[in-house]
Parts: sequence; C-alpha cells; structure tokens
Amino acid sequence: MALLEVRSLTKRFGGLTAVSELTFDVNEGEILGIIGPNGAGKSTVFNLICGTLKPTSGTLTFRGENITGLPPHKIAARGIARVFQGNVLFPESTVITNVLIGMHLHTGLRTFGFLFGGHHARRREKALRERAMEILELVGLADQADEVASSLPHGNQRHICLAIALATEPRLLLLDEPVTGMNAEEVAAMLETLRKLRREQGMTLVVVEHNMQAVMGLCDRIVTISYGKKICEGTPEQTCSDPAVIAAYLGAEDDVA
Ligand SMILES: Nc1ncnc2c1ncn2[C@@H]1O[C@H](COP(=O)(O)OP(=O)(O)OP(=O)(O)O)[C@@H](O)[C@H]1O
Ligand SMILES: [Mg+2]
Repeated sequence: MALLEVRSLTKRFGGLTAVSELTFDVNEGEILGIIGPNGAGKSTVFNLICGTLKPTSGTLTFRGENITGLPPHKIAARGIARVFQGNVLFPESTVITNVLIGMHLHTGLRTFGFLFGGHHARRREKALRERAMEILELVGLADQADEVASSLPHGNQRHICLAIALATEPRLLLLDEPVTGMNAEEVAAMLETLRKLRREQGMTLVVVEHNMQAVMGLCDRIVTISYGKKICEGTPEQTCSDPAVIAAYLGAEDDVA
C-alpha cells in the first residue's frame, strides 16, 4: 500500500478544469517530483491534498484512510504538511518563534497554557523550545535561532518555512518550489537538507519545482502534468526523454515567445 494514493483527482474552477482525472501513488520514503508548465495545476494538486481546496471528484487515501474533503487542520493532524510557494512566515518574529508558532498552530490553543504561568506550563514550554531547536538544527538554522526572520537571506528564509512545516511533525511533506529564486549555493544547501530529511527522519517528500536540474538530481520518480492531466510518470531519465514531456515544455516556450 502506498503512503498516499491519489485516484482520479479532479478540480474544476467554473469552466476551467485545473486538475483532471489525476492518478498516482506516493510511496513511503520516496522523493516524488511533480513538474509541468506554468498553470499546469501543480499547486492546485497540493491544495487538494492539504484540504485547502475540496476536489470536484476523485479520492485521496493517506495511510489506508480516506482523507478526501477533510478540512486542512484534520489533514495536518494526520501527518501531511506543506511548504508554500514563496516565503510564508512571520517576518518580524525571531527564527525560533516562527517554529514555535508553527507548533502552536498544529497542537492548538492548549499549548498556549504557558502564557498563564505555572510550573507545569513552564516545563511544557521548555520541552517545546527544545524540540524547536532540534528542528532548527535539522534545517541548519540553530545558530540563527534568535535572529529576526526577515533579516536573513532568501535561502535561509526558505529554510524557516521548511522548519515551520516540520513543526507539525509530518510523515509526508509537500514542497512547492523550494529552490525557486535561490542562487546555486542556496539550492545546494536546500537539496542537501531535503535529502537529510528522508535519510535521517524517514520522511516522504513531494516536490513541485521548475528548476529541472534540481528536480532531476533530487527525485526518485517524477509525475509530469500538463493542463491538469498526467502525461508521464517515471524516473528522471525516462521523464527527460519522453516525447510528451518535451512537447509540453516546448509548447510552453512557444506560448511565452
Ligand atoms: N482558486 C482558483 N480559482 C480559479 N482558478 C484557479 C484557482 N487556483 C488556480 N486556478 C487556475 O488553475 C490553473 C492551475 O493553477 P496552479 O496554480 O495549480 O498551476 P501551477 O502548475 O502551480 O502553476 P505555476 O507553475 O505557475 O505555479 C491555472 O489556470 C490557474 O489560473
Ligand atoms: Mg504553482
């Protein structure tokens, strides 16, 4: 059984079918890439998996349970987290506060008990801070824990977004364009962090990304979509040489020209 089974997933916005009869598996422990031209439906697929959008039809099964149509907080609680396209964080807060907010959003108001003092609450806050530091170590930001998020370079801010997602203790992590807008050094650092999450934490990753070199070097398998439909599924090598994939990207370039 796959960790996540996507079956005939379809999303229509009025007359536009953004995702169309999409079927694929995400296997435990793999890094799966989803690629496709601008507007192909990649972010919409993530919105459907996370519950921010409800599918028009089709099913999503996570760890053997039907999660189709569940609200976002219930899906997060089951172990799916998402890193958004662009830097979605708390810019004026410190790095560690960003991670703590991520934890509170996940565990709900009860973790805010420390605000009201008390011995038990202080112990709990200490445990949360320790876990937040572990997460920052994992993403290589432990030394910047007390710096203001917006003062760090773009590459580091992407790592903060990753840490916020990790604060929900996910089994499956969805990353929307994790290396877009980064310089070569920042790309290499992010790719190494993502590999480490799989290697050391046994995490399963789905990555949407336009940087082909990064996708090809990182992913075990790739699903290619165009106009919401799957046009190819295979290894990076199979994907690169697939005529439908080449045509979809050349077509996209023609549109731009
Ligand atoms: N909430 C929405 N309402 C209406 N149309 C939408 C909505 N979200 C996405 N779309 C449309 O659905 C299609 C797929 O968009 P989506 O954002 O999923 O593409 P994408 O593959 O992530 O593109 P990009 O690579 O540019 O990020 C686009 O035509 C987009 O305009
Ligand atoms: Mg997108």
